[in-house]
Amino acid sequence: ADDQGQPAPVSPTGGEAGDLQQQSAYLTTAQGVRLRDTDHSLKAGPRGPVLLQDHHLREKIQHFDHERIPERVVHARGAAAHGTFESNGKASKLTRAAFLQAGATTPVFVRFSTVAGSRGSSDTVRDVRGFATKFYTTEGNYDLVGNNIPVFFIQDAIKFPDLVHSVKPHPAREIPQAQSAHDTFWDFVSLHTEAQAMVMWHMSDRTIPRSLRMIEGFGVHTFRLINEAGETSLVKFHWKPRLGVHSMVWEEALLTNGLDPDFHRRDLADAIEAGAHPEWDLGVQVFADTEDQMFEGIDLLDPTKFIPEELAPVEIIGTMTLNANPTNYFAETEQVAFHPGHLVPGIDVTNDPLLQGRLFSYLDTQLTRLGGSNFTQIPINRPHAPVNDMFRDGFNQQAVHAGNAPYRPNSVDGGCPFKAGDAGAFIDVPQAVEGQMVRENPASFADHYSQARLFYRSMSPVEQEHIIGAYTFELAKCYEDNIKIRQLQSLAEIDADLCAEVAAGLGLDAPKPQLDHNATSEPSTSAAVSQIGET
Ligand code: HEM
Repeated sequence: ADDQGQPAPVSPTGGEAGDLQQQSAYLTTAQGVRLRDTDHSLKAGPRGPVLLQDHHLREKIQHFDHERIPERVVHARGAAAHGTFESNGKASKLTRAAFLQAGATTPVFVRFSTVAGSRGSSDTVRDVRGFATKFYTTEGNYDLVGNNIPVFFIQDAIKFPDLVHSVKPHPAREIPQAQSAHDTFWDFVSLHTEAQAMVMWHMSDRTIPRSLRMIEGFGVHTFRLINEAGETSLVKFHWKPRLGVHSMVWEEALLTNGLDPDFHRRDLADAIEAGAHPEWDLGVQVFADTEDQMFEGIDLLDPTKFIPEELAPVEIIGTMTLNANPTNYFAETEQVAFHPGHLVPGIDVTNDPLLQGRLFSYLDTQLTRLGGSNFTQIPINRPHAPVNDMFRDGFNQQAVHAGNAPYRPNSVDGGCPFKAGDAGAFIDVPQAVEGQMVRENPASFADHYSQARLFYRSMSPVEQEHIIGAYTFELAKCYEDNIKIRQLQSLAEIDADLCAEVAAGLGLDAPKPQLDHNATSEPSTSAAVSQIGET
């Protein structure tokens, strides 16, 4: 334990030595009392009734009865690994964050996940993959909680419960596991057409990756970086796998699902164990921090939009290598708690309304999932920087705090001064805030189709065939024709040929577009999208 009563940080390969490890050479009770027999209950004679006084029996069964904790409300199924991140220093002109300065090497823990399925669901389903990274920096933990798709379904976090209700299994029948294969999903995305760009990615081969070692990662939102001089810039984060981006074809994914539902987690763990350590380059697209926060007509605060790399190239700022498997799934992969608000000085959030809602949600859900407010003391969540938070007590408190005055300033034991001149986190960029209180989107959020079209038209013919096949397969599972027809209307707004092909596959008429797409302020669709399509 350090001088604040915090236990020592976890080792990179998990678990800390100490009395929480199962160290006795003998079997004991939880009180450390040696046992002679753990196979027979205490009974009144060999055939007699079991005696309530058998403490070992009660303790053993009672502990087992409480082994399960709630799974994550989304991203419940995951696989994780430890590694290191090495900065190449190129970001030092953009941010003062210590782990992004030249030569800095930082331990990381990465959890990959599917979104919709339960903890026991299959790996190779058609679904978005989560890509969450915890950097144990010298300035405290920084989490980059991203996905393998650069855009999101919705623009405002207030819609997140609605979205997730639509993708989770049917309330009466508890089917299916796959995110995109039922009426409520298609009902939601055809009624909330802001989702159409992400749905296009979702119907592409991106959502059936060949390996977790071969997926990209995106921070999705625009973040703000602050450098030593206090200058700011806006960035989007990208993870680029050194192995390239590769996918399965749909039939392969279906077969793999049946043959080995654990295919992705097995592949990741086996590769790391065999020394084939997967690597990703971390990069940023950089934008001027202008007042309107727009870039080439695309709103940087709209999380349903991405910026093509032709317009803003990705500059590589470091490389991550995953080199060790967790030693205990529950302690590490299950109990790790990521949060987009875990920021370090030099990295800040923007006003993206999806990001703002996420800042509330993760801590809130973890209070339930991990049993109260002290889950930051769980080894995998502990910062590798000294802590003095003046938080006290609470369920599952592990620390024995010293001192009598957990408040500041105090004149009793001088606790916890701020370092003079230290900018710290969370007030990096003092900014004026003003505006009328309204519940509405900016006009720039109204374009729902141009990026779906941009993505579709940047695909090779075979990839377009896969997308047509995916829309047809998934929509065919809807019971309600009116939902299929409404989704076809969105496809008509995106691309007439795509719409015609899917409609033919469903045995329905292809609708005509109802919007005049030349009249909107949609960004040009002519730019090819180089980073897309390397399946
Ligand atoms: C979990 C990504 C939007 C709520 C996760 C995880 C990832 C992720 C990767 C899994 C973390 C882990 O491995 O433990 C994203 C991305 C989003 C997004 C990239 C949009 C760009 C949202 C929104 C909300 C939300 C809008 C709520 C308003 C949650 C919750 C969890 C979660 C509650 C479970 C956390 C836990 O139990 O530890 N998200 N998410 N997410 N996300 Fe999101």
